[in-house]
Amino acid sequence: MKLLVFLGTVRDSAPPNPPRLGLRVAKACVSQLHQGDHSAELIDPLAFDLEPIFKPHFAYARGKAPSQLQSLADKIEAADGYVMVSPEYNHSMSPALAHLLNHFGSSLFSYKPSAIVTYSAGQWGGTRAAVGMRTFLSELGCLPVSAMVQIPKAHEVLAEDGEFLETVDAEGWIDYFARTFIQLKWWASAAQNQRHAIDPHKLVRAFKRDPSQRNAPAG
Ligand SMILES: Cc1cc2nc3c(=O)[nH]c(=O)nc-3n(C[C@H](O)[C@H](O)[C@H](O)COP(=O)(O)O)c2cc1C
Repeated sequence: MKLLVFLGTVRDSAPPNPPRLGLRVAKACVSQLHQGDHSAELIDPLAFDLEPIFKPHFAYARGKAPSQLQSLADKIEAADGYVMVSPEYNHSMSPALAHLLNHFGSSLFSYKPSAIVTYSAGQWGGTRAAVGMRTFLSELGCLPVSAMVQIPKAHEVLAEDGEFLETVDAEGWIDYFARTFIQLKWWASAAQNQRHAIDPHKLVRAFKRDPSQRNAPAG
């Protein structure tokens, strides 16, 4: 099972809080998912040199997309599930995460599950961002599992390397992450089996021409 862990921060504004607090959260996710038959890869938005003018991967002619975008498109298509790690900015999901995800069509993500992991430097752990992420990820086709991970004061929970700090109940936190990740892996495995049995893209055609293809019939 291949899982991708998308990180949603490019922030560089310390002090007072460490910059890119989310990197430690994403590392913790990777280390808990990357076990047994499961591989987990961190996708860092800083690794992508995105054009200032927004041009999504699907807007390029076949074979003409920049290599970085193509390589990520291939990884998204090959993956069995996704973990979306986001801070909360103004009660919303991270613009860096939304921007990176917006570069790819739902056909690459769909019929696979996702898990929402949010965090904050304050006490709410990104819960309000998480609510909005459900809508976003559902539209992308990678339906989020019901359990979620929320990490308040993430700098007091995780060290820079993604390990739990000695001052916290590490076992309790690992159990808490596992509740969401067990759901994710269960759905990822079920969806993988069903995709192999029946190709969903042959049953439901992707929107290729125009967004109006979503519309209900007139009259
Ligand atoms: C523009 C902006 C808006 C923020 N809005 C919220 C918020 O709505 N709720 C919250 O709990 N923290 C908020 N914060 C604080 C973040 O939780 C904190 O900066 C955190 O470290 C961000 O994660 P990052 O370092 O991985 O980018 C905000 C921070 C920024 C920069």
